[in-house]
Amino acid sequence: MANDYIVKDIALADYGRKELDIAETEMPGLMALREEYGESKPLKGSRIVGSLHMTIQTAVLIETLVALGADVRWASCNVFSTQNHAAAAIAASGVPVFAIKGQSLVEHWDYLDKSFMFEEGPNLILDDGGDATLYILLGARVEQGEDELIAIPKSEEEEAIFAQIKKRMAASPGWFTKMRTQIVGVSEETTTGVHRLYDLKKQGQLPFPAINVNDSVTKSKFDNKYGCKESLVDGIRRATDTMMAGKVAVVMGYGDVGKGSAASLRGAGARVKVTEVDPICALQAAMDGFEVVLLEDVVADADIFITTTGNKDVVRIEHMREMKDMAIVGNIGHFDNEIQVAALKNHKWTNIKEQVDMIEMPSGSRLILLSEGRLLNLGNATGHPSFVMSASFTNQVLAQIELWTRGDHYENDVYILPKHLDEKVARLHLAKIGVKLTELNPEQAAYIGVTPEGPFKPEHYRY
Ligand code: NAI
Repeated sequence: MANDYIVKDIALADYGRKELDIAETEMPGLMALREEYGESKPLKGSRIVGSLHMTIQTAVLIETLVALGADVRWASCNVFSTQNHAAAAIAASGVPVFAIKGQSLVEHWDYLDKSFMFEEGPNLILDDGGDATLYILLGARVEQGEDELIAIPKSEEEEAIFAQIKKRMAASPGWFTKMRTQIVGVSEETTTGVHRLYDLKKQGQLPFPAINVNDSVTKSKFDNKYGCKESLVDGIRRATDTMMAGKVAVVMGYGDVGKGSAASLRGAGARVKVTEVDPICALQAAMDGFEVVLLEDVVADADIFITTTGNKDVVRIEHMREMKDMAIVGNIGHFDNEIQVAALKNHKWTNIKEQVDMIEMPSGSRLILLSEGRLLNLGNATGHPSFVMSASFTNQVLAQIELWTRGDHYENDVYILPKHLDEKVARLHLAKIGVKLTELNPEQAAYIGVTPEGPFKPEHYRY
């Protein structure tokens, strides 16, 4: 189909291509897979719907999937995270993509719907945060009369998805149920999407196998941590140009993203405090040298507030009322409900620039809100650097190959890639940064109960 895409400006394709060429030099894992599988094309016959931030790094992922034989259609999983030049380059290469930075929620679901429109329908989902999976599964439940939710949308977000489901049901009766049967599997990128998958499994509603890419060690212990270590401060700086050194920053949550975020702010010279609900993570934060506090106790004095929890209602309206004038508030977790942005809607908003708003509280004090509470490293900056995304996306490609070529070996459950593949992903990234790996001799290997080629750790090892 001609012009089977929606992008901001197709003329940005050349610029996108130049950045793509640079990114390839920083993504050794993906390039190695192209070399290993470019000829055998293990993804031949697969039709993959991708719902993941449409960035330059994702463009390299898409082109890797295509090089391995897949047919691909793509949407972004967030309204602010698209890089318009990356989307343009992908559209110009002939891959249908539907993504514009700053698209509305209605467009978000419409574009996701468009990404499913293969002539014969898709057979695989590559998801980030679970929206593509949710769309099909919720749609099928509504179609089968198993879900009444459609009658009572509770938020703007839900209103948008339900409206899109209704539209699709009217246009193509039975479509969602057909899709639910046709999809052979999903690979999921992030913590929040993985939570959704385990929930579906628990409720007996997972209709196909899922691979949890997030919990490959070479994903969550690298992208979530070292990725955020680079991209959090990048986002705050591009949004505000504020002096970070000397400021007091509060990081809510000390999981993988929290650890990277706290390190990011500390690296920029901020005095960082952490809040946690989990005693293990709280102890880790303390022993990493961070003061672990209650938000209530520090909210009036801190300058920067960052949520990293994947939980909801973490920064609430009563907190924001207490903050000092011009406090910066942002979220780096997947969804925008970590900060009660909806409660600010009836306040005075002044837009400073794209994805930066100043909000006046009834007391007269002002807040700077980044990306309307959506993940600020992708909304205000360009997300993680290519190198770390190469590790994440190498896992994604291996997961897609596994689902496509060996999907029938799996139950309708959530799986993690085997450790030898996790180690393979790491190994593919060593040469680029000059890492020399020591080899075990057979006696040493036997002594610690492994083989010299690995895997080097038991399943229960936590890194
Ligand atoms: P995690 O589960 O490792 O960490 C979350 C932490 O928040 C946990 O330690 C938990 O105890 C804590 N927490 C939960 N509720 C809390 C509360 N009310 N107050 C304080 N702490 C609380 O999850 P991870 O991997 O760190 O991911 C966090 C979020 O970031 C998820 O939504 C994930 O999808 C997203 N993510 C975003 C990325 C980005 O580039 N912006 C990259 C990777 C993940």
